Parts: sequence; C-alpha cells; structure tokens
Amino acid sequence: MHRKASRDIDWKRIRQDFPVLDQTVHGHPLIYFDNAATTQKPGPVIEAVRHFYERDNANVHRGLHELSSRATEAYEGARQRVAAYLGAASADEIVFTRGTTESINLVAQTWGAKYLRQGDVVLLTEMEHHSNLVPWQLLAERTGINLRFLPVREDGTLDLAQLDSLLTSEVKLVAFTHVSNSLGTINPVADLCAKARSVGAVSLVDAAQSAGHLPVDVRQLGCDFLACSGHKMCGPTGIGVLYGRAELLEAMPPWQGGGEMIVSVSLEKTTFKKPPHRFEAGTPNIAGAIGLGAAIDYIEGIGRPAILEHDTQLANYALQRISELPGIRVFGPSHERGALVGFVMDAAHPHDLTTFADHQGLALRGGHHCNQPLMRKFGVPGTTRASFYFYNTTEEIDRMIEILAKAARFFS
Ligand SMILES: Cc1ncc(COP(=O)(O)O)c(C=O)c1O
Repeated sequence: MHRKASRDIDWKRIRQDFPVLDQTVHGHPLIYFDNAATTQKPGPVIEAVRHFYERDNANVHRGLHELSSRATEAYEGARQRVAAYLGAASADEIVFTRGTTESINLVAQTWGAKYLRQGDVVLLTEMEHHSNLVPWQLLAERTGINLRFLPVREDGTLDLAQLDSLLTSEVKLVAFTHVSNSLGTINPVADLCAKARSVGAVSLVDAAQSAGHLPVDVRQLGCDFLACSGHKMCGPTGIGVLYGRAELLEAMPPWQGGGEMIVSVSLEKTTFKKPPHRFEAGTPNIAGAIGLGAAIDYIEGIGRPAILEHDTQLANYALQRISELPGIRVFGPSHERGALVGFVMDAAHPHDLTTFADHQGLALRGGHHCNQPLMRKFGVPGTTRASFYFYNTTEEIDRMIEILAKAARFFS
C-alpha cells in the first residue's frame, strides 16, 4: 500500500484524469459534489472498459477460444485485485454482484433464509441506508425474525452505551454502515464486529461509502460479510462486491439459479459450484468487473491513506465554511467524519436549494438520501448534501459557499 501523504500528491493533475469534470453546466464550470451518490470515472477506467469491448469481448469460463480465455483471465484477475484491495484471504471470498444493495439482499436471502429462525434478532442501526434495512424487513415478513436498532445520538454518532443491552443472545446478525451517507459518521467497525463475535453473532458491514475513501481490510476489521459498490469508487455502475468469509460462503445455499453456477444438471437435480461462482448465476457483468479492477489500480496508485487525508481536509473545510452561513443546520459529528456534509437551510426546502445550486453549475443532492427513518428522527423531510472526492478542491467549496449565500438571500 502507498504511504504517500496528501501534500506529496499533485491533486490538480489527478483531476485532469476525469474528463467529465471539464465542462460547463448552465453556463458555469461544473462543480460535482454528488460523489456519495456516484463518483466520476477516470480515463484509465473508461479505457479498460473500452479496450475490453474493442479487443477482448467474449463470454467467460466456458469458451475454448482465445477471446474467451482473455475475457476470463481479465474477469478473474479483477476478482484477485478486489480480494487484495479488501484484504481478503482468497479471491474465492469475493462474489461479484450489481452493487451494495444486491450484496446485502444476497446475504439476507441465502444466509438469512437458511440460518435465521422466528424469534432471532438482526441488530441494525438507525442510520442505515434503505438497502441495509428493507432486505431485513422483507426477511422478517417471511421468517418472523425481529429487527432491533442501535440508536443514533443527536450529534450523529451511534449510542454505543446501549450496545451491551441490545446485543443479547437472540442477536444472530449485526449489520451496519461503515460511513453514514447522510451524516458522514465513521463508525467503529472493528469494535462493533468484535462485540458481535463475542455473542456469537455474524457481522455485515455496508462499505458503500468507505471502500473508495479509506483503507478497508476485512481481516483487520474482523467482519464476516462486507458489501460495496464499484460506481462509488471510480468504477462502472452495475458492478459491486460481496466479501464473505470462506467458511460462511461455503455453508450458504445458492441464490439465483442458472448457468455458470452449476457443476452438473439433470432434469431432476443440480449440483452447484463452490463459492464464489455458486452465487454468480448467468453471464456476469464482465466489463464492469474489469472496470472495477482498473478503478482499484487507479485508487491504489494514489493510495487510500492520502485519499482519506485529502477527503478529510475537504470535509472539515466545508463544515467550517457552511457553519459560518446564517440559518443553516448541519448534521453529523464535528470530527471523525467522512467526505460529506448534510445540512438544512431555514429559508429553502432541500429540493429548491439543490435546484437553485444546479442552475449555478453546482451538483448537490437534496432529499432523504434513502435514509427516511433517520430524517424522521432528526425531524426534517430531507437535507441538502455536498459530498466530495479526491478530485474536488477547496476553491470549489468556496464557490459553493458563495452560491449558498446567494440562495439564502434569494429564498429569504
Ligand atoms: C451507505 C450506503 N449503503 C448502500 C447504498 C446502496 O448502494 P447501491 O445503490 O450502489 O447498491 C448506498 C448508496 O448511496 C449507501 O450510501
């Protein structure tokens, strides 16, 4: 892993790798602060996908011809890169999915359906994205399991003092986000996983907002499952990852049935491949996996410690500048936060403010951010969110402050 510090990196040059950033929107230079929704893609990722379709396109695994061998090698090579990136013991612990949402649904519908019984408890937190809530609600309807929630405190951090009383012997799974997509809170993942383990519960980490932003090592974190999305870490849409500890994946039944995931099929019965292929029915997103591999190479070329440092500087600067504006309520912790700031302006609904910003070339996101229970808890219909990545600059944040100040005058 690279150990370069943020100050040793030419971030302005890196920004030039992202062609989409070089444009005007509504007559203004684009400022893209919607990175928590999806990040932009650098040239090498676009090129890797293009190269695949121009030179190597074929289906994987079953073909006995040159292009199929190349496609298979590139697809499985991407799996190796993901495994190394996440610190997995083996590439067999990496299942390609469509994204975080599909990864969590896979765990709920295979591991959950097989191992959870009526009366068992899944412990979540109040800050979960709908994709780490709705799959468990669906499973609860089918199996009679109960859901329990670790509360979020006013400052946007988890109320860890309540953990011991919630973590009873009925809890069989603890599933939580690494970084909150609305509050920016960075949760103590290793501690939470250790606590889960101490009562014999399995842990699942939603790393959608962390995998591209900070070092994530599944063995250091001590988690059993981890889910993330390629498109939130410089990769293409439609590709994501489920990491599962080998022992757990091996004991899980298949999810979808079809080609690619079988050893032999008769009209009566099928035997299934080992993980990860058991969970990848049908033709996979080959180009997406190859693009994700290229995204990982790109991120590793910069180094996650430096990206974290740079993102943290941007988030802290934005937090400080936004707090200077009158009539603004900022959500989330004042320190230890991920690369985003959510806020509400007294004078304007988040949708109106976001539309106003768009007309100035500034891409923010306004709404509930798939966190409706959390918004309800904080007594707001939604927030406006500015989320950053390493190609963003403090100058862009200054421009955002000007736009927000102008909006405050406009809406008052
Ligand atoms: C914390 C968190 N979890 C899960 C998701 C869902 O990711 P995807 O839509 O890529 O499946 C998101 C997306 O915003 C997220 O922020």
